[in-house]
Amino acid sequence: MSSYTIALNFEDGVTRFIDCGAGEKVLDAAYRAKINLPMDCSDGVCGTCKCRAERGSYDLGDDYIEDALTEDEAAEGLVLTCQMTVSSDCVLAVPVPSTVCKTGQQKFAATVARVAPHKDAAIVLELDVEGAAPVFLPGQYVNIDVPGSGDHRSYSFSTAPAEGRVGFVIKTIPGGLMSGWLARAAVGDRIDMTGPLGSFYLREPVRPLLFLAGGTGLAPFLSMLEVLARAGSTQKIHLIYGVTRDLDLVLEDEIAAYAARLPNFTYSTVVADEASAHPRKGWVTQHMPDDLTDGGFDLYLCGPPAMVDAVRRHLDTTGVAPANFHYEKFTPNAPAGAAAATDTADAA
Ligand SMILES: Cc1cc2nc3c(=O)[nH]c(=O)nc-3n(C[C@H](O)[C@H](O)[C@H](O)COP(=O)(O)OP(=O)(O)OC[C@H]3O[C@@H](n4cnc5c(N)ncnc54)[C@H](O)[C@@H]3O)c2cc1C
Ligand code: FES
Repeated sequence: MSSYTIALNFEDGVTRFIDCGAGEKVLDAAYRAKINLPMDCSDGVCGTCKCRAERGSYDLGDDYIEDALTEDEAAEGLVLTCQMTVSSDCVLAVPVPSTVCKTGQQKFAATVARVAPHKDAAIVLELDVEGAAPVFLPGQYVNIDVPGSGDHRSYSFSTAPAEGRVGFVIKTIPGGLMSGWLARAAVGDRIDMTGPLGSFYLREPVRPLLFLAGGTGLAPFLSMLEVLARAGSTQKIHLIYGVTRDLDLVLEDEIAAYAARLPNFTYSTVVADEASAHPRKGWVTQHMPDDLTDGGFDLYLCGPPAMVDAVRRHLDTTGVAPANFHYEKFTPNAPAGAAAATDTADAA
């Protein structure tokens, strides 16, 4: 029997992945995986199991009543997990925290496979994860323990999901806890992480995509681009990668390689430093492509809090309205599950 992967993305940002057989109800598959999704009647009558399907093909059958799920709700993508069967991998937004469903973050043990400094501005960290390769949605992050400190820091995956080796792009902060550990780290060092987390992830690419990255906010976009390239996406995608100083521009070769693999992917880099000789100066908002922002597009934005807030103000004042707007702030020292740092807005 074929089986599909369902990502259950809880209100607190925790994501768990379950297998669901063809013809199996999603609610039953979740309970089989010991995840107690909200439910009451399990019969399509009460509406307690209502979630939002963000991606995938599914069938709700016709055994539920209008009181449980209206026609308009179904048209908007709301589903009853007690009725839902799937015919592809799916992503479901579950409107309660993971703890309510008696589940939570997963822990992964890993060893350092590579630590590569980039121009003193950032470090590319690669980790080999023990056991099953971590599954996550492209754009999500994990909390990585800083060995010996009892503390952790959050980092977005820069590589594609379900691979034993995972990658991160980490800004070098002088005097920073993780930055200091990375400066001493060696291949083979052990490190633990928990996750995956976050609601900043790639949705079904049904319209042109505008990616705005600030500094190491580039990382989640590399994961998204890899997934899009592997899927053979022909969607129009434009990335604007803005940094403060010339030396903060890292991994440009990797971005250029996506332009070769994705037929409708374009990108530009922008440097804010007035002293820079870079051809495009200023902020990402000064270099938005009119041909994309004049039509319907989905906006993904990731970077330091000040940059994210500046872009949001720019959208408000100029009236540029994306169909969907997803953003993530790289807030320093974010607590576990930093849900407030991540958000999604339907601007349509
Ligand atoms: C959801 C999420 C995802 C994230 N993903 C990434 C990622 O992929 N790549 C990445 O590089 N970072 C990412 N961050 C930020 C990251 O978690 C750390 O905050 C950052 O790496 C600093 O850690 P540190 O231990 O080196 O410095 P800390 O010990 O935390 O900080 C030392 C000092 O520097 C200040 N500081 C911290 N960050 C900055 C900064 N950017 N600019 C100026 N001062 C700073 C702190 O306030 C403190 O005073 C993410 C944050 C969140 C919330
Ligand atoms: S649990 Fe009652 S409608 Fe699904």
